[in-house]
Amino acid sequence: MAALRIGVLASGRGSNLEAIIGAVRRGELDAEVAVVISDVADARALDVARKAGVEALYVDPEKKKARMSAAAEQRIIDELRKRDVGLVALAGFMRILSSEFVAAFKMRILNIHPSLLPSFPGLGVQKKALEYGVKFSGCTVHFVDEGVDTGPIIIQAAVPVLDDDTVESLSARILEEEHRIYPEAIRRFAAGRLKIEGRRVILLPEGA
Ligand code: GAR
Repeated sequence: MAALRIGVLASGRGSNLEAIIGAVRRGELDAEVAVVISDVADARALDVARKAGVEALYVDPEKKKARMSAAAEQRIIDELRKRDVGLVALAGFMRILSSEFVAAFKMRILNIHPSLLPSFPGLGVQKKALEYGVKFSGCTVHFVDEGVDTGPIIIQAAVPVLDDDTVESLSARILEEEHRIYPEAIRRFAAGRLKIEGRRVILLPEGA
């Protein structure tokens, strides 16, 4: 069976992209990053891709809002399809996808989010967790559905929130876990081990 081809969408730094590429390189993930697409022309993620020899594309989002224009979304869909992508991984992609986009890759889009969903969906969530006063936060890898950060959960990792935490220190502690669980979630997807039952994602035994 041909290795899973992944299309990564990223808007910024690209450290989760680096973690995914690293896992592929080390042979921990039987998959290939086929293309990285960004809605930000100078996103570091595009440099990360190029340096790793992965095709990097900028697609003009044509809007400043949370959602891109329909034409921009269609361009991204076309680029992903052209490269026969079997999984779309959102890695710090700061745009909300339309239901048409989600339907085009039904249950084939994953996202990493820096909180323990369903707590703190949306943006700036490490700050929100600190301000709320929770004692644990963490990160979530989930399938993307039509909602914002609402899809079925694949893996979560918890970290403590310490009394002297700042947004930066908490974000760094969470990020370390992101880099661990995102490649692992993709590994499980690539191995066909994720069975979706309603909201629940059941992990099938290896080789089943
Ligand atoms: C990560 O913390 C990721 O969880 C978050 O943005 C950061 C991207 O970092 N994503 C979201 O907030 C999605 N709403 P990276 O570019 O270094 O991977």
